[in-house]
Amino acid sequence: MKNINICPSILSANFACLMDDVVRLEKAGVDILHVDVMDGHFVPNISFGVPVLNSLSDACNMFMDVHLMITNPIKYVKSFVDAGADSITFHVECDDDVDACIKYIHDLNCRCGIAIKPATDIDFILPYTSIVDMILVMTVEPGFGGQAFMPDMLQKVRKIRNFNSDIDIQVDGGINCETARYAVDAGANFLVAGSAIFRAKNFEKAVKSLKEANIS
Ligand code: DX5
Ligand code: ZN
Repeated sequence: MKNINICPSILSANFACLMDDVVRLEKAGVDILHVDVMDGHFVPNISFGVPVLNSLSDACNMFMDVHLMITNPIKYVKSFVDAGADSITFHVECDDDVDACIKYIHDLNCRCGIAIKPATDIDFILPYTSIVDMILVMTVEPGFGGQAFMPDMLQKVRKIRNFNSDIDIQVDGGINCETARYAVDAGANFLVAGSAIFRAKNFEKAVKSLKEANIS
């Protein structure tokens, strides 16, 4: 079985003391930060952008897993890579040419993922599994943290895993100890968690119980 990676989404952090939360995560043994970028156009919410990533990547050594929920990713990927992105995931539903965007991200020596919204047909994405590093299956409608996991999305995870045994599969939205187990059983190996970690008093315990939820 693949190693399970927990990716805390800083969307659920307290932005007034973001670095304190990041330091607590590092102390809890987390080495990936999931950075949710929203433009208020692709999704009905605005989060943060390049300057915040820049400050974070200067201040810590974590792997920056950037999730772009924006209409025109090509225009911004270089700025995010320059600001410290180690991986960039963009949506197939964006307005840009998907193949050109993948190539551009790889040309910048960055890992590339593509994401699908709940309503998007999975067959559309299968051909990309041979050229990208990761597929992100949204398990909620993108835009907000704290929503309920959509169990119907598990069949997408299963289909991708059956189609390609090597690709990294990330799930994002409504992940807690119970849904983490379903996602891993279906074949996911990167679990994004916002509320499940940031609502917990003890980050170390929260991360540990998400990891342990995967031991069936
Ligand atoms: C939703 C974001 C998620 C979100 C996850 O659009 O992509 O990363 O913050 O938050 P929870 O774990 O609370 O659903
Ligand atoms: Zn996300």
